[in-house]
Amino acid sequence: MNHLELIRALPKAELHVHIEGTFEPELMFAIAQRNKVAIPYQSVEEVKQAYNFHNLQSFLDIYYAGANVLIDEQDFYDLAWAYFEKCAEDHVVHSEIFFDPQTHTDRGIAFATVINGLQKACEDAKTKLGITSHLIMCFLRHLSEEAAFETLEQALAYKDQIIAVGLDSSEIGHPPAKFERVFAKAREAGFLVVAHAGEEGPAEYVWEALDLLKVNRIDHGVRSEEDPELMQRLIAEKMPLTVCPLSNLKLCVVENMQQHNIRRLLQQGVHVTVNSDDPSYFGGYMNDNFIAITEALDLSQEELKQLAINSFEASFMSETEKTQWISKIHALA
Ligand code: HPA
Ligand code: ZN
Repeated sequence: MNHLELIRALPKAELHVHIEGTFEPELMFAIAQRNKVAIPYQSVEEVKQAYNFHNLQSFLDIYYAGANVLIDEQDFYDLAWAYFEKCAEDHVVHSEIFFDPQTHTDRGIAFATVINGLQKACEDAKTKLGITSHLIMCFLRHLSEEAAFETLEQALAYKDQIIAVGLDSSEIGHPPAKFERVFAKAREAGFLVVAHAGEEGPAEYVWEALDLLKVNRIDHGVRSEEDPELMQRLIAEKMPLTVCPLSNLKLCVVENMQQHNIRRLLQQGVHVTVNSDDPSYFGGYMNDNFIAITEALDLSQEELKQLAINSFEASFMSETEKTQWISKIHALA
């Protein structure tokens, strides 16, 4: 088996994907038409040309605008279903999916509309594609603590359908400390917790996510490498980092893929995983991310397998399910 065949054959878990970031322009146009919502583009080509980002904020502005066409439960279902079809193509057998309720509730869309549409797609993914999944609700960190508390309140009614809470959107200027109290309340309510930290923000934000939010995983975290003491902590605690290589490239976190630190992190013993983040905007789904780092960093087949094993170990699946998938990886030639 060559590297490409191995990437395709490996069962993989995705732990960092924003469902609003899987919105392909073709589907965006179809839903905009169905809902009679105007979008500022004439064609799919024009949309794709707008996807030229120079930092996180330049992406977020376009990402939130795209989400505006999502109105009905069926829209959220269609969005998630299209993503699950991509999972099936890439042999992603399990996905823990972020959604941003505030992006929708702030436009007058009911929380129930969002979660019911996503939940139905998750159920169909299990029965029709054999793909398991969990939903992770993210708070938008550019909004207030109070708004996050209100969102958590709404989520309590759907506790059984949401495994964890997370923190996303504009990182710099919105440190994890801003959400210490709301995360404490979420943990008390029984949610697991994750947070974006150390993508554009400094290593200090990763410390805060660990110490103040008490996260189970760090999303991105690639800037942790700037702080040797933090690296020791991550390694000692086997703290997973959900790394998103194509995202880091497109948002200019790295200049080119050869400079990406995922292989160095892996070699130093950090529990890194590969993820797609916002695949429709960043030019690729799971396997595209694996291929990009394999080509740029000359990853070995053992390293590719380790990354896939890490994805299951770092997931919120049961220990039994983790063991089953990991033994399939070991069984690959
Ligand atoms: N970072 C922060 N917020 C986000 C991202 C990201 O990479 N993708 C979608 N929302
Ligand atoms: Zn993200």
